[in-house]
This record gives sequence, structure tokens and C-alpha cells, in this order.
Amino acid sequence: MTTKQVTRSTFDEVMVPTYSPSQIVPVRGEGSRVWDQEGREYVDFAGGIAVTALGHCHPVMVKALTEQANKIWHLSNVMTNEPALRLASKLVDATFADRVFFANSGAEANEAAFKLARKYAYDNFGPEKNEIIAFTNSFHGRTLFTVSVGGQPKYRIGFEPAPGGITHVPFNDLEALKAVISERTCAVVMEPIQGEGGILPATAEFAKAVRELCDQHNALLVFDEVQSGMGRSGSLFAYMEIGVTPDILSSAKSLGGGFPIGAMLTTDKVAASFGFGSHGSTYGGNALACAVAESVLDEINRPSVLEGVKRKHALFREALEAINAKYHVFKEIRGMGLLIGAELVEPYASNAKAFIGAGAEEGVMILTASTNTLRFAPSLVIPEEDIKEGMARLEKAIAKMVSQ
Ligand SMILES: Cc1ncc(COP(=O)(O)O)c(C=O)c1O
Repeated sequence: MTTKQVTRSTFDEVMVPTYSPSQIVPVRGEGSRVWDQEGREYVDFAGGIAVTALGHCHPVMVKALTEQANKIWHLSNVMTNEPALRLASKLVDATFADRVFFANSGAEANEAAFKLARKYAYDNFGPEKNEIIAFTNSFHGRTLFTVSVGGQPKYRIGFEPAPGGITHVPFNDLEALKAVISERTCAVVMEPIQGEGGILPATAEFAKAVRELCDQHNALLVFDEVQSGMGRSGSLFAYMEIGVTPDILSSAKSLGGGFPIGAMLTTDKVAASFGFGSHGSTYGGNALACAVAESVLDEINRPSVLEGVKRKHALFREALEAINAKYHVFKEIRGMGLLIGAELVEPYASNAKAFIGAGAEEGVMILTASTNTLRFAPSLVIPEEDIKEGMARLEKAIAKMVSQ
């Protein structure tokens, strides 16, 4: 194999222009530090968009991946494999679920969730019960079904006709939900913490009331925990924090810690509608992906790590508040665990993206959520000194932004 010299400009020549990546091309990561092609070092508060939950190249993940790489990589679902069975058993032991379906991404886990909700209603109540209610501003992935259930029209426009039978209502607005839920509703779909929409948590009262409404109308409650799950909230899943149990839950992102995998979790009763041949995926349950995810789950689902997430939330919040006391850039700091949003005040609110570039110049990687919010989704085991160092760099970046 010959090694071709590649740079950021290669992206503009050979990649479909769906993304507009940063000018930085990272080549190496360790824990919460990353180095680019030029050898510059960054503190990583972005975590690959809430994915690298154990940081980069965590030894337990490297061990799990390399051990499995020397055993067997892939079998398809014509045969099962030990890592998939172990991971599914551990997810069942750790959650409300009795059954697991593996996919390769968050969108695919949601696609499975939405199809299953429809199929369950079809099997148990008939074809008229097919309507899905979802929330304004939500994000559920980029397949046609998931952009249609997602509550942000910008991801759907141009790709119509979209699948029908989907209604959107404002988030945390119980009266709006009451006005549209009916015997035709097969599922209500929500993110316990809207991620892409701006780090907006559901109130516990709202989530409880949604659960009750679903029960009254024989509708399934689907929680999309692709971003909020796997320890990010300070509990293994955010549903545990808010005390409301869904019928179907989707997981991805941090589940693989950087290796692509998604999962849909559900009960025996609901899973019965996904009978043999009704759904599938060639790579779903891939042995390498499941071996890595098993190591991630083992590592995250420990009191010391989950308590650490809550402690680190406080450190992030304190540091952001201290920055705000000096520069008055944030309107609100919100979120749970290590999924934190800092909404910008005017005139910065329309220009959140500029903060990413300013951060990178000072050596800290951050994200945006919505157009007006800075987002922090670092490793769940980020060392406290990296939080301190990253925040010092962020403060320099913000000082520059406000002096412009
Ligand atoms: C809540 C939520 N659901 C689904 C997805 C889609 O996941 P993926 O990009 O892995 O398909 C995302 C991605 O940002 C997400 O935040």
C-alpha cells in the first residue's frame, strides 16, 4: 500500500461536500488531548460529538478491539457471535429492557425503533394506529424516516416526499401534546435531553405526563438516548435520572466510544413484533463493534465513573460561570452531566460557530448546538486538570471574541 500525502484541501477535492470540516486534521489522540498534522495539541471538550466517552485510545478499548481483531471480525446475522451476546446480556441487565437489536449508528437504531413502534401497533391494534408524535427542534438522524420524525425542517427540505403520519408539537408543552395524541398514535418519540436542538432537557414533570398520556392511548414511548445515553447524564441512561421508563430506547454514539455501533432496546412484549425476517442489518451486531462496546459499558457503568460525571458537570459549570462573570457572553448554562450547553447572548447568538474556530486557535475543541449555543460533550473520564487547562484556553478564545 502506498501512502498518499493528504491535507485539509484534499477534502475539498475528493469528498462529497456534505460537511465543512475544521481546518485542523487531527492525527493522534490520547485521553482528552489530540494532536494535529502540524503537531499542535488540543484539549478535547467535543468528544467527537458525544462519542469518545472514554477519551481517545483508552487502554480497555484498545485491548478489547485488538483481542477481538485477532479472533474473528464478522459473521453477519446468519450466525450470532459471543461479543454481541455478551453486550446484549449486559445491556439487558443494566436497563429496563429484555431485548436488544444492534445497528451501526444512531439513525439506524432510531429507524429500527420507529419501524418497531409501527409494527407493534399494526400487530396489536390494526393498521390505522400508525401516527408518530415527535417534538419541534428534535434530531433523530439523517435517514429519510429519521429526518421526517426529527423536528427540524431544514434537514428534510428537498428530500420530500417524506413518510407520512408524523406530527410535531413544541417540546415541554403538555397541552400541545394532549391536543394531538389520540387512539391513532402508535408512538411518542423524544430525546430526554434535546442535543442538536440546543441542549434542552425535558422537565421530569413533562416526561412523566408524556408517559401517562402514552399509557392512556396505548402508544409506545420511545426515548432517543443516542446523545444523552451511556453515562453522559450522570446515570447510565438519562431516563434513570428523570425517573421515566420508555418502551423503546435507542443508543449509539458513546456506546461504541468511537467504534460505530447503535442499539435499540425494548421489552419482550414489544420485541415480539420484530419477528424473524421483519428487520435486519448486515453489520448490526458486528463482533469488533460489540467487543469494543462491551468494554465501554463495563468501564462506564460503575459508580465511580457516573459520580465523576456529576462532579465534572459542576467543574464545567463553575468555570463557565466564572468566564461569564468576566465577559457576559452567556444567557444560560444548562444540561446534565457532561452534556452541557452555554447559550450565547446577542450579538454572539447568531455566530456560535465562530467560537469553535477561536477555541481551536487557542487549543481547545468545542462544539455548537443549534445556532446559538456552545456545546461541551467531553470524555466522561476527562481528567480534572484537562478541564482546567481547556477552560483557561476557552477563556482566552472568548476574550479575543469579545474584543473584536
Ligand atoms: C439524539 C440523536 N439521535 C440520533 C442521532 C443520529 O446518530 P448518527 O449520526 O449516529 O446516525 C444523533 C446524532 O447527532 C442524535 O444526537
